[in-house]
Amino acid sequence: MIEHGPNSEDVGRIWQTLEAELTRVIGRPTKLVFPSTMDDIYYKWFKTIEATAFREELRYSAEEILERVEKPDLLLFFVTTGQEALAFILGYRLETEWEPTFYIDTIAVRQQGRGVGSLIMNAVMAWARVKKYRAIVLDTEEKNEKGLPLRRFYEKLGFVLFDSDETGNLTMRLRLSSKDMRSR
Ligand SMILES: CC(C)(COP(=O)(O)OP(=O)(O)OC[C@H]1O[C@@H](n2cnc3c(N)ncnc32)[C@H](O)[C@@H]1OP(=O)(O)O)[C@@H](O)C(=O)NCCC(=O)NCCS
Repeated sequence: MIEHGPNSEDVGRIWQTLEAELTRVIGRPTKLVFPSTMDDIYYKWFKTIEATAFREELRYSAEEILERVEKPDLLLFFVTTGQEALAFILGYRLETEWEPTFYIDTIAVRQQGRGVGSLIMNAVMAWARVKKYRAIVLDTEEKNEKGLPLRRFYEKLGFVLFDSDETGNLTMRLRLSSKDMRSR
C-alpha cells in the first residue's frame, strides 16, 4: 500500500517496525503484504487463515469479503513469510460515528499465543493515531470456542467494554486521545 500525504513517513515507519518485530518473534524474514484488490492468492490466504482461526459460523462468504474490501479507508494486510501467510487484519472507517472511528472487523493469526496478534494490534493502534482517528471499535466475545480470553486480550491493549448483547457479542472501544500517545 502506498500512503501519500503528510503522515506517509510515519505510517511507513510503523509498518517497517512491525515487520522487524514480527521477524524477531517468528524467527524468519517476515513481510507485510497490502492487497489493493482481492485476487485469488489473497482470497486463498484469507480463507486459509480464517479456517484455522474461526468456527464455521463466523467465516465470511466471498461476497462478504468483497463487500468489506470496498469499505472506506480500508486497512487490510497479511503477515507473510516466503509464500505463506500467517496472519491478517481487516478494518475500515466507521461512517456511523460522530467522531473519526476505525473499526477492526477481523484479526486472525494462525500460530496463536506467540505475540503476533498483540504486535499487529499495537501497530494498528499507532497507525490509527497517525491517521487522526479518535477511537477504535471492534466486536468480540468473552472467550472464543477454544477458550482464548478475547476480552482480556483487548483489555490488555487498553480497550474497554462499550456494549454487549444477549448473544454474547461484546463491543469494545479504545479512545485515542492525545494523552494516550505513549507507546504501550
Ligand atoms: C485473538 C488473536 C488475534 C490474538 O493473537 P495472538 O497472536 O494469539 O495473541 P498474542 O500471542 O499476542 O496474545 C494472546 C494472549 O492469549 C494468551 N494465550 C494463551 N494460550 C494461548 C493460545 N493457545 N493461543 C493464543 N493465545 C494464547 C497469550 O498468552 C496472550 O496473553 P498474555 O498476553 O496474557 O500472555 C488470535 O489468537 C486469533 O487469531 N484467534 C482466533 C481468531 C479470533 O478470535 N480473532 C479475534 C476475533 S475478535
